[in-house]
Amino acid sequence: MASMHKKAITLGENYNQHQDVTLYQGNCIELLQQIPSNSVQLVVTSPPYNIGKEYEKKQRLHAYLDFQQEVIEACYRILKPQGSICWQTGNYVESGAIVPLDIRLYPIFEALGMKMRNRIIWRYGHGLHASKRFSGRYETISWFTKSDDYFFNLDPVRVPQKYPNKKHFKGNKKGALSCHPLGKNPEDVWDIPNVKNNHIEKTEHPCQFPVGLIERLVLAMTAENDLVVDPFVGVGTSALAALLHNRRSAGADIEPKYLAIAKKRIALLAQGKLKTRPMNKPVYEPKQQVKSSAFFATYGGASLT
Ligand SMILES: C[S@@+](CC[C@H](N)C(=O)[O-])C[C@H]1O[C@@H](n2cnc3c(N)ncnc32)[C@H](O)[C@@H]1O
Repeated sequence: MASMHKKAITLGENYNQHQDVTLYQGNCIELLQQIPSNSVQLVVTSPPYNIGKEYEKKQRLHAYLDFQQEVIEACYRILKPQGSICWQTGNYVESGAIVPLDIRLYPIFEALGMKMRNRIIWRYGHGLHASKRFSGRYETISWFTKSDDYFFNLDPVRVPQKYPNKKHFKGNKKGALSCHPLGKNPEDVWDIPNVKNNHIEKTEHPCQFPVGLIERLVLAMTAENDLVVDPFVGVGTSALAALLHNRRSAGADIEPKYLAIAKKRIALLAQGKLKTRPMNKPVYEPKQQVKSSAFFATYGGASLT
């Protein structure tokens, strides 16, 4: 779907609170240092996983975690008291053994006094086919808040109920709606296709996240004009999710080629031509009709119990 948004978007390379988007080229620590304390409503990011992708040099796990700690502490400083951090991660893999990064990063947030509100499972359909373990088909989003007085707005992200218009069938509420008229809570397991080759949002970045995944976080955790920061912004997905809903955005990436793509995507958004997969579009389920001839060729007359 092409966005209906057609609007002037102001963009700069260093942080300025009056511009819509900042895209800083360099180490994210330098951008975070430019942003005032207690000024950001949401930090949302997918950091490198230290698995040797084209944009990262694989380090020893402890060195990687030390750097993550430095970035997380810098994000904590800029976060408003009502603000949230959403850290989206998968697994670090060493000689075939997996290390779930969210488990290793949790103590860093905990030491800052942050409270975990959800560990969202982002489930998707495509990825490598493992032969010595089950193929991985989910990653997590660890959502932490800076305080107990945090902003959370469920209404814009409600999803349709399985049985909409369900009513109480007895008691003094008989006949009244028993479900929320705007839909139900989207829960903490999200089925959203990952951005692989035939995805409408695919760019040359090997690990971009889908816009819809971040739109849900932006809508639930921020209000219009709030600032959304992504220290590892890649091709600008979080910036697009923020701009689509009239929030400001600031992000950094060390790779100029990804930022060039981010700028092109933002220009398309400004022209009303950006194509994104709608946030709540159901996952495509191919109709799998087992041809009876093929089935019997495989199983013959054996009884299946
Ligand atoms: C998992 S990708 C993020 C992709 C992004 N979510 C998107 O949708 O495009 C991680 C990104 O972090 C960038 N990166 C790695 N180290 C960095 C650093 N020290 N500062 C800023 N960016 C860095 C990489 O170039 C890469 O684009």
